[in-house]
Amino acid sequence: MTSFLKNILASAALLFTVAVPETSAATDLSSRDIVSQMTTQEKAELVVGRLWDMDNASKSPLFDYPGLGMPISGVARFGLPVTICSDGSYGLKKYIKMGNGKYGTTAFPIPIGMASSWNPSVAKEVAVAYGNEGKEYGVDILLGPAMNIMRDPLCGRNFEYYSEDPLLSGFMASAYVDGIQSNGVGATLKHFAANNQETDRIINDARVSVRALREIYLRGFEHTVKYSHPWSLMTAYSRINGVQCGENSDLIEKVARGDWGFDGVVMTDFGGKGWTPLQVQAGNDLVMPGSTYHVQNILNGLKNGELTMKALDECCVRIIDYIKKTQHYKGYKYSKKPDLTAHAAIARRAAAETFVLLKNNGALPLQNATPAFFGTGSYDTRISGIGSGKVTSDYRINIADGFEKKNTEIADWYDTFISQGKRKATKGMKMKQKNKVLETLLLPEMLPGADTIKNIASKSSIGIYTITRNAGEGADRRPVEGDWLLTKQEKETMRQLADAYHAQGKKLIVLLNVPGPMETASWKDIPDAIMIVWLPGQEGGNAIADVLTGNVSPSGKLTVTLPNRYEDCPTYGNFPTGNEGKTVDYDKNGYQADADNMKKRDGGNAGQSQETIFENGKTRLVDPPKDQWVKNINYTNYDEGVYVGYRYYTTKNKPVSYPFGFGLSYTTFKYSNMTVKPIANGYEVTVSVTNTGKRAGKEVVEVYMHAPAIKESRPVKELVAFGKTRNLKPCESETLKMTVMKRDLAWFDENSSAWTLEKGKYTMTCAPSAVDKGVSKTVTVAKRAVLEKTSRALLPR
Ligand code: BGC
Repeated sequence: MTSFLKNILASAALLFTVAVPETSAATDLSSRDIVSQMTTQEKAELVVGRLWDMDNASKSPLFDYPGLGMPISGVARFGLPVTICSDGSYGLKKYIKMGNGKYGTTAFPIPIGMASSWNPSVAKEVAVAYGNEGKEYGVDILLGPAMNIMRDPLCGRNFEYYSEDPLLSGFMASAYVDGIQSNGVGATLKHFAANNQETDRIINDARVSVRALREIYLRGFEHTVKYSHPWSLMTAYSRINGVQCGENSDLIEKVARGDWGFDGVVMTDFGGKGWTPLQVQAGNDLVMPGSTYHVQNILNGLKNGELTMKALDECCVRIIDYIKKTQHYKGYKYSKKPDLTAHAAIARRAAAETFVLLKNNGALPLQNATPAFFGTGSYDTRISGIGSGKVTSDYRINIADGFEKKNTEIADWYDTFISQGKRKATKGMKMKQKNKVLETLLLPEMLPGADTIKNIASKSSIGIYTITRNAGEGADRRPVEGDWLLTKQEKETMRQLADAYHAQGKKLIVLLNVPGPMETASWKDIPDAIMIVWLPGQEGGNAIADVLTGNVSPSGKLTVTLPNRYEDCPTYGNFPTGNEGKTVDYDKNGYQADADNMKKRDGGNAGQSQETIFENGKTRLVDPPKDQWVKNINYTNYDEGVYVGYRYYTTKNKPVSYPFGFGLSYTTFKYSNMTVKPIANGYEVTVSVTNTGKRAGKEVVEVYMHAPAIKESRPVKELVAFGKTRNLKPCESETLKMTVMKRDLAWFDENSSAWTLEKGKYTMTCAPSAVDKGVSKTVTVAKRAVLEKTSRALLPR
């Protein structure tokens, strides 16, 4: 959300600490009957979020708790209360603290990490916990989970998403929805759909084939809608094949409601630039966060024929259906006292399952160690992303904090270095600005000098060096030093540390405290062990200690490929890298929206541009002439088609630094006795996993299929199922049972708009990563079959 909006909310919340007024008793009328009795004005107001009430602040006691969330309109005369939504793609986000100076919320690990656990039950446990925080603070619906595909490793919001694979994304999002909604609080799948870059997301048009949409970008949404019935879908700011997602009736009516049977509410992303009458006409029920201007647009749209009363009525019916499910409607008396101690314990357990051990030359687990921690991230650990996807918490366990026994000399040196650095970076700033800067500040690395390092290496048993990165809404990451690449200083620091420790027969571990992938190929030979700990949530330091010391074996695996070079990515050239040159200018009839901010930017930053758009939200977005459009800004070509992530690398036989699905444990596993048995709508795959090593551990098994060739071409490998064992003791075995649906073996034939199962041999492989041989079985499909016809939708123009 924009900072402009945040400021409004914060000041409004300060003004209003009064309770949401009691509404008249719940109604017996059906939603349709209510709509038939509503005035046109009431209808127009119902489909627009209640932020506009802030214009008339003193009459708008919408918040009964400071900094809670954002209001959705009700209709008081029918007993339909204002309800509250709040951000929460992986934890509850509050905008300001409570009267006791606390947020009272828990920061859980970021979703890319949670997905790396390949354990939907743990993700569900997390979602049950933060859904409960929502419920206990009076939130009716959470604005999460976020589940766009990681098309490119540098999308700024990859930390909020799950994977480059749609099946895994679908299972993880389902787990979050199930968990949140088990509280009677709604979940919102976002950003629907193909919102795969942050740069200029308000205007960007994803030019993508229908097959890639169906097989990659929509498939996770489809899974989650069909299996978990989220209360809401949030349309993306961006466009698909020329049509803005919020105005896209193909996307909303044909695909979500028609093909998938979605029966919830569709809302816009906040402050997006679709045209209100067209949005409502397209079945986008709710315009968020809303302003009086949107209400006026609707009334005008009804008059000039852009919007029909029938479409408006349908949206109202769905909103009323939603309101009737909410806790505010049911009169739940929320406690404002979620069990934060229990939730912290969940955050710690969950985080320990998310870490991915990439390399281990006998450095881990630590044995009676006195480690020395290097890198500012060891002492100033990043625990959450930036933007609306930042979750709030009242404390943070830094990586070094997780260890009582550690070298304190270097800890003291870093404490001084960090506080001086912060002071310097925020010199002369007012408190508010200072806090904002400190939220995202990453200090450059520095080392105390060769003699000191030698001395510390002699006084510690092992060195642990943390590399840290940030990312967030509104900007993509860049393939440059300090982001995708290590800085020269970081690399030099790593080399000096490795030399100092190796000279004394000791080892160096590198921890990656990062929101997503980074380049590893050029430096992975230097340290003895590398573990990705992601942005691990408030209990990060404790969870990392649990894993480094061997109390818990690492069991995470990559949900995204780590290529050798950024240039190897299938999206290379078709993703903004900050070198797009000319940025978009709008003429006086359109938005001057980005002009100022874009000039300032060092590459696209639509998050900033939104702010201006919202304030000036009186005009309509008008595109510049087509000959002024800039590739990767106004539009992005998805030339790679369905060859996203490992589908591309494995098909092209392109070596990578670490493959999709890869992650080490402290123990080893053997797969045996694989079986594949036909069942009603697919196959049941079983495989026995035995712990062949010396320590307990969990193993993720991935099932890939290799399908018969078709003339349109298919990836050589596609994930069709996965499973995770319980914590197996040495010599212990478990037989995993996994279901492969026929639909997951099918491909989407654009010509016939149908999921099609080709006849022929399908090889299924149970493997520990996308490149391992694993164990295989082949099944034969005797007859070609059309499994599902869909609407003809979203065609490229
Ligand atoms: C983000 C959404 C978020 C909304 C409300 C938007 O800027 O894209 O993910 O839910 O703000 O904060």
